[in-house]
Amino acid sequence: MNKELRQAVIAGNWKMNKTRPEAKALIEELIPIAEKANCGVVICVPFTNLETAVELTKGTNIKVGAENVHFEKSGAFTGEISADMLTEIGVEYVIIGHSERRQYFGETDETVNKRTKSALAAGLKPIVCVGELLWERECNITEEVVARQIKLDLFDVSAEDVKKTIIAYEPVWAIGTGKVATAEQAEEVCKLIRDTLAKLYDKETADAVTIQYGGSMNPKNAAELLAQEDVDGGLIGGASLKAADFGVLLDEASK
Ligand code: 13P
Repeated sequence: MNKELRQAVIAGNWKMNKTRPEAKALIEELIPIAEKANCGVVICVPFTNLETAVELTKGTNIKVGAENVHFEKSGAFTGEISADMLTEIGVEYVIIGHSERRQYFGETDETVNKRTKSALAAGLKPIVCVGELLWERECNITEEVVARQIKLDLFDVSAEDVKKTIIAYEPVWAIGTGKVATAEQAEEVCKLIRDTLAKLYDKETADAVTIQYGGSMNPKNAAELLAQEDVDGGLIGGASLKAADFGVLLDEASK
């Protein structure tokens, strides 16, 4: 982390977990823990928990995010939610292009790009996820895969807007598997992302962007990952569902 140049952010991705009473209990537990954090704190929760989360976190340092957003403003898109619907209820962040959406729901770099632009236009801060499959890493094409995703996902996004965007590097083989990337692997790709941003924009812009690591980050491995120059926080799945674990990650990112 380089806190002089950019903000460190720990974001929870609850995925498809927590009913409303469960969400309420977790957030109430989290509020006093998050209070002392010296980093950005975001919880991305299922659509049905957004209003509860926004209401409960009012006046606290916890920001609320959604886990997806559609790119059209309104219309015949059954089951989808627009960026305006999110901002209207007080949501500030949104995860876009998570590998689970790419894998199971046909998300492509083109739709990730459209969703990112719509989110930014509505005033949401996107957390854009990129990362290689195990097969791609084994074939030694991680650099090409991730640089390509960055170029396509951020196509036509201005420098001013990219500074409001968080990039989450999530190697697909490390998500929910307990297989964490080594600190060196995480740093190598996060730096590659920053170098790609510097080529697409300029160094000052690239230096200002928060780049998170995600994939089995937990209280045991967080310190080493977060000690890397280009790893500015984490996008946390499993460990965001327990207040105590999430609290340890906040402590580590606050150092
Ligand atoms: P885990 O932390 O459970 O591996 O999930 C990571 C993730 O996908 C966050 O978006």
